[in-house]
Amino acid sequence: MKTLTHLFVLLAGCACLHAESPAPTTPAPKAAHGQETELHDTMDEMRGAFKKLRSQIANPDANASSLQLVARLRSASEASIPLIPEKTQLLPEADREKFVAAYVAKMKDFLAEVQKLETALKAGKNDEAASILSRLGTMQKEGHREFRPAKKD
Ligand code: HEM
Repeated sequence: MKTLTHLFVLLAGCACLHAESPAPTTPAPKAAHGQETELHDTMDEMRGAFKKLRSQIANPDANASSLQLVARLRSASEASIPLIPEKTQLLPEADREKFVAAYVAKMKDFLAEVQKLETALKAGKNDEAASILSRLGTMQKEGHREFRPAKKD
């Protein structure tokens, strides 16, 4: 009888372990410092489009392709607006709301410039498009200085 009880306890223990393993009760935090975030993904998309645009913005023959790249830049910046920068969780709670509001405002300014870039390219104004693109590069540096966790640029 004693052996049977031991066996039951053992089996119950195994069943319990199996039931728990696929669904941990405490999920890992979504984006602890140093982990990649959803914002990181939309930024990666921006990087690809931005880099290619820089190489061809002055060339009117590439305008159809440039407009496709601008559309990628636009949707990645739109998608970035509601995302929360990683740095937010490193700040004291009292500062977070203001920080996120400033980030959203900057990203909306960035998006407005991207829309100007689209208009200039559609009008075949490549010189104007090139200067808007360089402004976007400046906004990138400002955005990173202010809203990214401190690391290399
Ligand atoms: C042409 C424009 C931009 C490009 C190509 C770009 C590219 C990138 C890339 C490749 C990363 C990830 C790698 C890294 O941390 O260095 C990143 C991160 C980041 N970028 Fe940008 N970025 C641009 C504009 C902006 C702007 C305008 C803002 C702010 C309004 C911004 C805010 C951030 C933040 C906060 C992160 C860190 C990710 C996180 O907090 O999860 N970026 N960016």
